[in-house]
Amino acid sequence: MGARLQNIIFLSMYTLLGLWVIYTFFRPGKTAEVVFSIGAGANEIRMVKNLLEKFEVKNPTVKVKLNILPAPTDQQHHYYLTTLGAKSPDIDVVRIDTIWIAEFASAGWLESLESYLTAENRASFIPIIEKINVIQSNLYALPWDANIGLLYYRKDLLEKYHENPPATWKELINTSKKISSSEHIYGYLWQGKQYEGLVCNFIEFIGSNNGGIIDVNGKVIANSVKNKRILDFMHDLIWKYRISPPNTHSELMEESSRHLFQQGKSLFLRNWTYVWDLCQKDPFLKNKVGVSQLPKFVSNSSVYGGWHLAINAHSKKKEKAWQLIEFLTSNESQKELAMNLSWAPTKTLLYKDPEVLQKLPFLPIVERSLRNVQIRPNVPYYQWVSDILQEHINRVLSNQTSSQKALQNIQKRLTYIQNEFARN
Ligand code: GLC
Repeated sequence: MGARLQNIIFLSMYTLLGLWVIYTFFRPGKTAEVVFSIGAGANEIRMVKNLLEKFEVKNPTVKVKLNILPAPTDQQHHYYLTTLGAKSPDIDVVRIDTIWIAEFASAGWLESLESYLTAENRASFIPIIEKINVIQSNLYALPWDANIGLLYYRKDLLEKYHENPPATWKELINTSKKISSSEHIYGYLWQGKQYEGLVCNFIEFIGSNNGGIIDVNGKVIANSVKNKRILDFMHDLIWKYRISPPNTHSELMEESSRHLFQQGKSLFLRNWTYVWDLCQKDPFLKNKVGVSQLPKFVSNSSVYGGWHLAINAHSKKKEKAWQLIEFLTSNESQKELAMNLSWAPTKTLLYKDPEVLQKLPFLPIVERSLRNVQIRPNVPYYQWVSDILQEHINRVLSNQTSSQKALQNIQKRLTYIQNEFARN
């Protein structure tokens, strides 16, 4: 081999080596794929995708893949029992219903966030963070959407009949009867099907009569005169006053009741904050809808229905998962969610933001309600509690049993479940 050829070979080898060193030194960080599992409506998923694009621009080494589930909470719960329960690492960030935190954290399925979150960031959230997300002194989730039950009403019809939004259930019945018969529409839509939404409605109703299911000392107090009055009242809305449709007990969930309201078929609707934005974007309903606190018997009562973000304890990308949660719960992201989806923020600062206040006129109601909001029992066996309530309340609504019998059964079965868990 001539000396010239040898030189060429050496030179090429050195050049290749140099290029390799430069590449290794300056190459962009390895991209990780974080899987974010979320069940929500189509418009909500669109907005979340917009946010994720912004996150990926800010964090070029992370790609987010969505694992989209159906919106109803009970269906999502079944899914997580099998995936998180199987210790699968396939999901990194989970959007969880507030009622699962105690169950999932006690089962060891959620990562404690104590070492990720700064004290300053923690203090910037609404105080409910400490009540619901802390299980055995560890914080397991951050609130992302502070859901509260509200009363939506047809402002145009109330004005036409010179009526005000009702402050009490009695007023709601009277106004409904007066307007619904002349307009040939329903008076009041709420969620009565056998599922978690029914439990939320029941807890709000009994709270408005100072009733309850489990007291502050953990004692079951379901079988009470106050609760009986409420269960009879829920039944009568459908069968005696006839202001709620007969299929309330078989079909009405959040979305089915919202659709009826948007089709102009009812004067009042009980639903969560997301409905406000959809009514504003509806050409028929725009400017015709008002929103107020739910009526009362003796006290105003709302149930807390938030969705929170947590990290799968078996995720292999916890740091990146945390980066995503930090971004999604930031003031900037939450403001976008409030402005575009009417989700109530979980950062206290946004409750004073003039733009958010203008867009969400109900925000002061949420702020007020959060101070003494009803929290569904924050126990690891909540699903059993819910199943018992769903079954027996729904049987009253569908005329299969009396309110007295239903409450006796609820009392007996809840006490049994409580004792079983205390023993194990
Ligand atoms: C809403 C609430 C959730 C509740 C569910 C019941 O999604 O945010 O907490 O469990 O409704 O249907």
